[in-house]
Amino acid sequence: DWAAALGPRRVLLPSPRSFCAGVERAIEVVERALDRYGAPVYVRKQIVHNTHVVDGLRRRGAVFVEELDEVPPGAVVVFSAHGVAPAVREQAGRAGLRVIDATCPLVAKVHAEARRLAARGDLVALIGHAGHEETEGTLGEAPDSTVLVETVEDVANLPAGRRVSYLMQTTLAADEAGRVADAIRRRFPDAQGPRSADICYATTNRQRAVCEVTGEADLVLVVGSANSSNSRRLVEVAEREGTPALLVDGPADIPLDRLAGVGTVGLTAGASAPPALVDAVVEALRGLGPVRVEERSVVTETVEFGLPKEVRP
Ligand code: F3S
Repeated sequence: DWAAALGPRRVLLPSPRSFCAGVERAIEVVERALDRYGAPVYVRKQIVHNTHVVDGLRRRGAVFVEELDEVPPGAVVVFSAHGVAPAVREQAGRAGLRVIDATCPLVAKVHAEARRLAARGDLVALIGHAGHEETEGTLGEAPDSTVLVETVEDVANLPAGRRVSYLMQTTLAADEAGRVADAIRRRFPDAQGPRSADICYATTNRQRAVCEVTGEADLVLVVGSANSSNSRRLVEVAEREGTPALLVDGPADIPLDRLAGVGTVGLTAGASAPPALVDAVVEALRGLGPVRVEERSVVTETVEFGLPKEVRP
C-alpha cells in the first residue's frame, strides 16, 4: 500500500501559525469577564471567527448575540476582536450596557486612521471584503467619506475630484491587497496609504510561513472556520503558490480521499484557530499511518497586548 511504499507521511508545520495576540487577548477578555462579573456575559458577534472557540466560551456562560437589542439593559457586553462602528458604541451607551471592548488594537489603529483621513477631507478607499465585521466597523467611522474597494475593478468606480487615501482590512492577502493598492495609485497618483502595513503582523507572518512549505507539500491543510478571513487567505496564498489547499475546521473535516498518495502535508492554522486543533489534526493523521512532524519557522512572534481596564487584574 502507499504507506509502505512512501514511508512515514511528513507533516510540515509552518511557524507562526494559529492564535495571534489579538485573538488571545479577546478570548481572555471574555474568560475574565465571566470570572469577574459572572455568567451571562453577552458577546456581540463571534468574539473571534472560530466555531470551537465560540462553543467553548458558550459552555462557560457567554451568550453570543448578533446585535445589541438582544442584550438586556445593564448587562455586561463584550465587543468582538473585529471592532465596531461608532453607532454601535452609541447604541450601547443609550441602552446602559456595561461595555468591555475586545477590539484588537491593530484594528483600532485602522479606525483611528479612517477618522483622521476623513476629518482632513479625504475620500478614504477601504480595501477589504464586503460584509466582514471588520470592514463594517471601519466603514462606520466615516460612512460618508469611506468607500469599500474589494477588487482592482472597483477602483474605476471611485469618484473623481477628491483627494484619495486608502486603508486596508487587517487580514487580507498581502499580494492581492497590494495589487488593489497599486491600481488606486495608478488612478490617483497622489493617493496616500499604508502600502501593506495595515495588514497585521500576524496575517503577514502566517502567509510568509505557509509559503515556506508550499514548495515541499503535496497538500496544505489550513485549520480555521469558514468565516475566518485570514484562514481563507492562507488557503488562497498556498494555492497561488501552486499547492492544493483546503480549509478544515478540525480533525473531523480531514478529507480522507484527498490524502491518498499525499506524502507531505503542510499544516497551518489561521490566527483565530486554537493550537490544540492543530495537535488534534496531527493526531488524526497519525491514526492513518506513521507520521514524521517537522517545523518550518520564519519568525518568532513576541507581540502582546494589554487587557482592557474592566478586566485587568
Ligand atoms: Fe489583531 Fe491581526 Fe489578530 S488584526 S486580531 S493581530 S489577525
